[in-house]
Amino acid sequence: MKIRSLFISTLLLAGLLPAAAQSVKLTAGNIDAVLKAMTLEEKARLLVGERQTKVPGAAGATAAIPRLGIPQTILSDGPAGLRINPTRKDDARTYYTTAFPVGSLVAATWNVELAEQTGRAMGDEVLQYGCDVLLAPGLNIHRSPLCGRNFEYYSEDPLLAGKMAACTVRGVQSNGVGTSVKHFAVNSQETERTSVNEVVSKRTLRELYLRNFEIAVREGHPWTVMSSYNRLNGPFTQENRQLLTTLLREEWGFDGIVMTDWTGTRNTVAQVHAGNDLMEPGNNEQVTQIVEAVKGGTLAMEDVDICVKRILQYIVKTPAFRGYKYSNRPDLEAHARLVRESAPEGMVLLKNENAALPMQGVKTVALFGAQSYATLACGLGSGCVNIASAVSLAQGLSNAGINHTADLSDLYKMGRDFDDAHSKMLQKSNWDRAAGRTQYPELAISRYLADEQAKKSDLAIITIAHEAGEGWDRPIEGWRGFNLTADELDMIKNVTEAYHAAGKKVVVVINSGSVMETASWKARPDAILMAWQPGGEAGNAIADVLTGKANPSGKLPMTWPIDVMDHPSSKNFPTRKGTNDEVSLHHEGLNVGYRYFDTARKEVSYPFGYGLSYTTFAYSKPQVKATKDGFTATVTVKNTGKVAGKESVQLYVSAPKGKLEKPAKELRAFAKTRKLAPGESQTLSFAVSRYALASFDESASQWIADAGQYAVLFGANVEDIRCQAAFTLKKAYTQQVNDILQPDQEL
Ligand code: BGC
Repeated sequence: MKIRSLFISTLLLAGLLPAAAQSVKLTAGNIDAVLKAMTLEEKARLLVGERQTKVPGAAGATAAIPRLGIPQTILSDGPAGLRINPTRKDDARTYYTTAFPVGSLVAATWNVELAEQTGRAMGDEVLQYGCDVLLAPGLNIHRSPLCGRNFEYYSEDPLLAGKMAACTVRGVQSNGVGTSVKHFAVNSQETERTSVNEVVSKRTLRELYLRNFEIAVREGHPWTVMSSYNRLNGPFTQENRQLLTTLLREEWGFDGIVMTDWTGTRNTVAQVHAGNDLMEPGNNEQVTQIVEAVKGGTLAMEDVDICVKRILQYIVKTPAFRGYKYSNRPDLEAHARLVRESAPEGMVLLKNENAALPMQGVKTVALFGAQSYATLACGLGSGCVNIASAVSLAQGLSNAGINHTADLSDLYKMGRDFDDAHSKMLQKSNWDRAAGRTQYPELAISRYLADEQAKKSDLAIITIAHEAGEGWDRPIEGWRGFNLTADELDMIKNVTEAYHAAGKKVVVVINSGSVMETASWKARPDAILMAWQPGGEAGNAIADVLTGKANPSGKLPMTWPIDVMDHPSSKNFPTRKGTNDEVSLHHEGLNVGYRYFDTARKEVSYPFGYGLSYTTFAYSKPQVKATKDGFTATVTVKNTGKVAGKESVQLYVSAPKGKLEKPAKELRAFAKTRKLAPGESQTLSFAVSRYALASFDESASQWIADAGQYAVLFGANVEDIRCQAAFTLKKAYTQQVNDILQPDQEL
């Protein structure tokens, strides 16, 4: 205390501290007065983050300025739950958090209420563990199935990604804590992510890579946005005023703060001028740079003040500022229940023949695949949640009263022990493995072994797990690749042949955050379930689906191509240092995901929006009504099968011919039924504005929806349109916007 007063008097004597400063303490009502009372050094300090936080394992913080009553606020990863250290030095307590399902699974639920509910539970953990902002959700577009962080992100479609993000933001923030929607923008690859220049046409940007953020900002009102590591059409996003101020704030009305991704240094002056309020994780050099730039006249005090004011406006909303007495005891059991109930809603039943699922009369299964015994709860990197352990599929099935063959399980245990010992020898940490987060190498399964197992079990389950993570993109081949390895393909072949010869069935469970190659082997098993990385309750949730306790209602939020090279982006993905000047040219433009495959009529393994159920649904009576600003639509969905289930309906629109070429159809709305009993119906409603229908005409810098007749298509997936209606737009709709974000090189 004495030292602080001495410091303040010294500053006063030196004339560095405004006179009013001594008495001002920050309140929600005196932000301008506090701003006035701050020294230039204090302002600079506030724009630069701090690494040390009171919550071990949190990613970073904003600086405290105690003399002005400004507390430190804590920023913590996301997005699959709160990432903090579970144990602390000299502290017997534990600080475990919940691993919620990864983003791709959340998107696959197509259930906005569920996304919001999950957000509420995550936000409770943020609050109860003394943090202020969850660095989530991640909503970059799946440009390529190979992006290493696709598991954290939602979809190849900006509407689905944007809506899911907006709901998650609302859910988390309902706790009085913040979110940071990330990574703004076009963080489409992990290779050279801190230097790559993503070159994208203005139209593609507006319609694909920015629309998701626009929806999240306009509908979710996040407290913060995280600018990305990469360059976009030239400058780093973190230094781009057109992106962070003209577009984000002036066009979209964002009123929170922008923070950098955890960058190290960029051009500090350019960042402040661009409206990148907070630099994370922050270093003293940046503080000095701001002070010197203002003194030297290269940075306007006005630019600094705008950022500082926004940070103060953020701080007064935080639990840290309110002095919230957090418990360190969120209701982890309730959240585990939520994970178990919600994960099956995003699991996608890709195939189900010969009534393989739900399992009937199965007492003993043989569990093939190393990850059957160490199911992956989440992916790797900052999106990985530190949990005590994940429920494995083996454990989940045991909990459901289904045994697995002990000799096979012992064999895999030997494999895991060997691998753990080997890791130890190489001094690699085994700790991640304990929490079910790291992929074990697969064992080769011979036909002989498969035949032996077929004698001892009623059914085989094969888990195929390929993990991905932050900082690296997925290879096409290899044990973490898009394609299955030769051992995995052999395992599927040997096991299916052995079991089918014995008159028994085989189910493949995919435990991966992203798309896998399926075309070459999908004919072999009787059923395939895409379980993603479903969070800490993984094994219980998968067992619920396999046994029929839960009816899966997930649908793919991205296309599953036959070959990864079928994606036009694959030709230029990822850009590697030295090969292309670290430039990623988006030659494919809008030809991303179904916008390409559907328009080009290119065959896929599973289309966007695809997913089976244990029941069936019929769609009827579509209606479309023009409104002042577009149209509303309804369709009635009836459960025509024998068990209860939910159905999500995708509303695609096919635009009339106009000046611009357009994808054959685009997702413009979606809705999901409640759980419908057999025979029960529900009418779903949709609303589509003219703005949502519009395409971006870059030659005029305007959104345009041509006059004419729009086909309104109600699909179970993009290829399975069940019924349709029409909407006529009498007069063309246009909206002029800023001509910004010009590519710095030809495409
Ligand atoms: C990641 C962000 C994350 C941040 C803080 C970065 O490397 O890209 O998503 O929020 O680290 O951990």
